[in-house]
Amino acid sequence: MTQTYHVKSFGCQMNVYDGERMAELMEAEGMTASDKADADLVILNTCHIRERAAEKVYSEIGRLRREDGSTPMIAVAGCVAQAEGTEIARRAPSVDVVVGPQAYHRLPELLREAKGGKKALDTGMPAASKFAALPKRGVQTRPTAFLTVQEGCDKFCTYCVVPYTRGAEISRPWGALIDEAKALIDGGAREITLLGQNVNAWEAVDDKGRAQGLDGLIRALAELPGLARIRYTTSHPGDMSESLIAAHGEVEALMPFLHLPVQSGSDRILKAMNRSHTAASYLKLLDRVRAVRPDIALSGDFIVGFPGETDRDFEDTLTLVRATRYAQAYSFKYSPRPGTPAAEMADQIPPEIMDERLQRLQAALNADQHAFNRASVGRRCDILLERKGRKARQLVGKSPWLQSVHVDVDGAAIGDLLTVDLVDAGPNSLAGEPAMRKAA
Ligand code: SAH
Ligand code: SF4
Ligand code: F3S
Repeated sequence: MTQTYHVKSFGCQMNVYDGERMAELMEAEGMTASDKADADLVILNTCHIRERAAEKVYSEIGRLRREDGSTPMIAVAGCVAQAEGTEIARRAPSVDVVVGPQAYHRLPELLREAKGGKKALDTGMPAASKFAALPKRGVQTRPTAFLTVQEGCDKFCTYCVVPYTRGAEISRPWGALIDEAKALIDGGAREITLLGQNVNAWEAVDDKGRAQGLDGLIRALAELPGLARIRYTTSHPGDMSESLIAAHGEVEALMPFLHLPVQSGSDRILKAMNRSHTAASYLKLLDRVRAVRPDIALSGDFIVGFPGETDRDFEDTLTLVRATRYAQAYSFKYSPRPGTPAAEMADQIPPEIMDERLQRLQAALNADQHAFNRASVGRRCDILLERKGRKARQLVGKSPWLQSVHVDVDGAAIGDLLTVDLVDAGPNSLAGEPAMRKAA
């Protein structure tokens, strides 16, 4: 009988990518995908970035126990696996395998060890060898695909676990990325999002021996037949090169969208966070991007309630938000992470103050997002159709600015680029009409 597996990924897009590659590994082992409720093997691909993420994993493990008391084989992968290591199998004896983000290519081997009756653990860190050892990309049929080009982080922001869970910055080699992009396009991808914890720090030597940065890779990918759209995330303001900015004005396939986390608008807090930018240098950077691509949609990440954050510091964040007019953004309450410097800092902010600040910040960001969407009404653009909508004949696609656009249409299919006029805007999505109709 064929064995079945189920992968559940938490956290960032890089975990989604890793989850897909783990699934491909299991397929290569002859297993088939199934629901969590009846899979022989459940892989929990975990995230450690905020708040009691580890606790969530333990309760998820608990819920895997079936009515007859049995459990599937359980593998814990991802950043909690890296951070907690053997502690997981000690606290949750039903866990069979613990594997870190840089070692999951060894899952088949570890599963065999575990079937032999002993717990199997690998939290080794050589990211480079992982990619070389993974099976070639399989057939995927979605129009949008993720491609991890860079892993790890050397920035050591004082609140963040990523440098500890993902290890040092590495860039995947040029040839491997071009090959993987081609395989994704062959499998139906029309849009590729390049991923990295610091994706704009990617650098490598191309097939002609020239040093290339992310913009060079983007320019090469833009030449691949069949690929219509390129995006990248997440960037660090300190790695935003002139040539990458220039690419936004020159490469048609590079979508007018930039996710550039700032975290705070207070220079005092930015310094305590060990961010390499100030509020002013960040805003200046955005001006340079807007100069080459005036319609660019900007996105950011924010943390409220970092240790020592005063009302004044928080007002500086609101000022930066007002100056930027984000198209969308993510905002979080500071969460002390074990082992990070900020967790030891004096003057931790009480939860009620964090709640209040987060509410105010999110109200401002939501209003900006709605305003950005409203300002798009009247534009004509292509949308890449990604899925069916709730109503008959309705399809949902993404605009160049990463907005969801609903459209009622006949004769178009998922994976098509459809030219639409944007006719209505809500806080989270827009309505479009096929542009042809107007002419008729
Ligand atoms: N590499 C990216 C983001 C990594 S984590 C960058 O440098 O921006 C994604 C987001 O989670 C961060 O941008 C930050 O806003 C948030 N984050 C990270 N650690 C956090 C913590 N300890 N508490 C709250 N939010 C955190
Ligand atoms: Fe974390 Fe900072 Fe690295 Fe981003 S740049 S992953 S926030 S340490
Ligand atoms: Fe979470 Fe690890 Fe991504 S901590 S955000 S899964 S890098």
